Amino acid sequence: MTIGIIADLVVTGGTIVTPDTEYKAGIAIKDGKILAIGDQDAMPEAKETLDATGLHVLPGAIDVHVHFRDPGYPQKEDFASGTAAAAFGGVTTVFDMPNTLPAISDAKSLAEKHAIAGAKAHVDYGLYAVLGEDSLPNIGALIEGGVIGFKCYMGNTFGRIPSPTTGAMLELFEIVAPTGKRISLHAETNSIMERREARLRAMGRTDPLAHLAARPAVVATEAVARAAILSEWTGARIHILHISSAAELRPLAEAKARGVDITGETCPQYLLLSSDDYEEKCGVIRVNPPVRETENQDPIWQALVDGTIDMIATDHAPHSIEEKTREDIWTVDCGFPGVETQMPLMLTEVARRKASLSDYVRWSAEKPAKCWGLYPTKGALMVGSDADLAIVDTNREWTIDDANIQSTAKISPWHGMKATALPIHTIVRGCFAMKDRTLQDNAKGWGRSVHAIQEMPTPDVRNADQTMAAVTAPRKG
Ligand code: DOR
Ligand code: ZN
Repeated sequence: MTIGIIADLVVTGGTIVTPDTEYKAGIAIKDGKILAIGDQDAMPEAKETLDATGLHVLPGAIDVHVHFRDPGYPQKEDFASGTAAAAFGGVTTVFDMPNTLPAISDAKSLAEKHAIAGAKAHVDYGLYAVLGEDSLPNIGALIEGGVIGFKCYMGNTFGRIPSPTTGAMLELFEIVAPTGKRISLHAETNSIMERREARLRAMGRTDPLAHLAARPAVVATEAVARAAILSEWTGARIHILHISSAAELRPLAEAKARGVDITGETCPQYLLLSSDDYEEKCGVIRVNPPVRETENQDPIWQALVDGTIDMIATDHAPHSIEEKTREDIWTVDCGFPGVETQMPLMLTEVARRKASLSDYVRWSAEKPAKCWGLYPTKGALMVGSDADLAIVDTNREWTIDDANIQSTAKISPWHGMKATALPIHTIVRGCFAMKDRTLQDNAKGWGRSVHAIQEMPTPDVRNADQTMAAVTAPRKG
């Protein structure tokens, strides 16, 4: 026993999961940080104890891709309901996308979102800002205002944020590169899919599979390859969002092999759903990029296991039941909730021996933290790290029911699916956000922005003498 120190909370009896191993140990927490990990008898005295016997203790998941719709679309979600859903899913940090109303593309809109999130969040968060032609003059002010990174829409999706031209993208990458901030890409090339959608619509196609026909894998593959070239040229760090096809893996792996600072995520929908599901699920399954043919699933799994894909995120994109059940596929809003069901679904696959629990914590916590410079404050169960814990029953059979989810969006393709794991308690910086499957009201407003944590090496800026700023600067002499 450590003499003199009284912990706030000691979690006993659980099995701790790290990216390398699993072991039984106690965890002591004080002032929001992990104070000690070790033999139960060696734990300090505590004001509160939690018996986690029979449960697994994971680092809380970091979901780097959610849409919480606040401000702008309260019928879909807000920061309170979205972060409550995160807490129920064992997620302790989320990165929120900027396609709200207004979009986050200047200091004012960013400050407004910080105020909303700071008042309502049950879990920690980072806020993205738009990287586009409109926000080009605002990049410095946005970084000053506190962003986790930038989001660049190479293709149109919900919110219709205009896609920058390749020329504008290059200039934007040049500006962001020296800041070290990571640029996350919606990598779908607009001109290809708009052209195809127009043709399909002119033919009178309105069925769910027309959505997939408008956005074949080449739409994403061409965008990944192009973004990687711009990243390689400028040294800007990039992240490929929602990898949906086997074809994207080659440009991703090749760029990594060339030393490009490129990371990638996939989402449960690309691992667990396929084009065979459109007939039954209709518009509910409509998402950008689309759920694709079954043959994409195994290569994407393999890429996660071998590290080509770095992490799992959700693209949690809530919409109302009415918005998801329209007859004409082109009028159905794209996306569905996922922040709450990712961990149960992925751990169900772990139980089916598709990967190990250690693999899972690497994808859900360690890698996201490392790629955005949050590690080891976040994403690790280590002494001195933030006490962000997901305490999970990995042996609990249950069926996902949209009516019972925390998200305001009570419609998802996950409805009716069986899972064998369930987060029981979620702790954010030492405070219970969810305990015994019950939301802890006092945790509303506890969530904090993580943008100021910066554990990143200096960025490797390239071709600085050839940037737009350099070549248009007034000549000396
Ligand atoms: O399906 C999608 N929905 N894909 C996106 O990229 C955006 C998202 C949304 O905001 O609804
Ligand atoms: Zn998204």
